[in-house]
Amino acid sequence: MAALTINSKIKLPSGYEIPQLGYGVSFASPPEDTERVSKLALEAGYTHFDSAAFYDNEDGAGRAIRTGTKLPREQIFFTSKVPPGSVSYDGAKATIEQTLAKSELGYVDLMLLHAPYGGSANRKGAWRALVEAVEAGKVRSIGVSNYGVQHLDELERHIAELEVERGGPGKGGVLSAGQWEIHPWCARRDITDWCAARGVAVQAYTPLVRGKRWGEPALKKLADKYGKSEAQVLVRWSLQKGFIPLPKSVTPDRIRSNADVYDFALTPEEVAGLETDGYTPVAGWDPTVAPLEA
Ligand SMILES: NC(=O)c1ccc[n+]([C@@H]2O[C@H](COP(=O)([O-])OP(=O)(O)OC[C@H]3O[C@@H](n4cnc5c(N)ncnc54)[C@H](OP(=O)(O)O)[C@@H]3O)[C@@H](O)[C@H]2O)c1
Repeated sequence: MAALTINSKIKLPSGYEIPQLGYGVSFASPPEDTERVSKLALEAGYTHFDSAAFYDNEDGAGRAIRTGTKLPREQIFFTSKVPPGSVSYDGAKATIEQTLAKSELGYVDLMLLHAPYGGSANRKGAWRALVEAVEAGKVRSIGVSNYGVQHLDELERHIAELEVERGGPGKGGVLSAGQWEIHPWCARRDITDWCAARGVAVQAYTPLVRGKRWGEPALKKLADKYGKSEAQVLVRWSLQKGFIPLPKSVTPDRIRSNADVYDFALTPEEVAGLETDGYTPVAGWDPTVAPLEA
């Protein structure tokens, strides 16, 4: 494998490339704050921004991307998400229009369904809206977030049904990426195996465990060994697992240092050794365990 750099990208099943390190655009900040910290992220070298309609930060992130860099639009990757309460055909269609209007970015690189709530028919309808948005050139790649294996299996059935209903191969859409809370204390091997078997890219949210694991002996040992911060070791773990980590910070030196992870490498044994069998999500919700009826 080629050495990782800040410019490393992963090819998605859609054919587009996604920068492997993403900036988690801060949640519930005022738009002007979002714009300010997103510009700092651009200066630090991030070219991938993880936003969401639910976070109400698409306008600030969009303004930063439009005005905070000389890079052309095609070299920036902008993700947004259809909020949990809008997972339906009409809800997803309306969200995509709002995202385009708020971000003013012309198209969305990756649109995800934020959570698998709403029931089977609504999930299928929301997915169809994403597929239509790709066909209309409004969105480049599509995916899901917080789907458990039961929801992913159902999505495969929906894609097959839509192919038949909409007239053939490809008409059901292509699942390019999924986003989950993933870190060494919540590695979600069932889901990551599902994705690996199908070439679906895995985005890791809450990659720093929201700071709740600072001082863990295994983590601290690696930070001391490499002279890096524990946050940098966690970002590196995620990158070396082949995930797409989305660290969030609104603190200038942390924004920079979380992206300064390319002058050291964990050994394969260290990557494996940091991972636990634990299942301790910290993000405050875990829709992956929701039943299909929810
Ligand atoms: N799809 C979903 O359902 C979902 C859910 C949650 C999150 N996400 C995405 O994932 C992104 C990140 O997740 P997250 O915000 O939950 O968690 P996180 O990135 O694991 O942690 C963020 C927290 O860590 C602190 N921090 C950042 N860098 C640090 C450093 N170098 N040293 C010490 N502390 C540091 C931040 O503080 P400061 O900001 O004060 O520096 C903030 O309190 C979000 O922005 C969002 O894009 C998606």
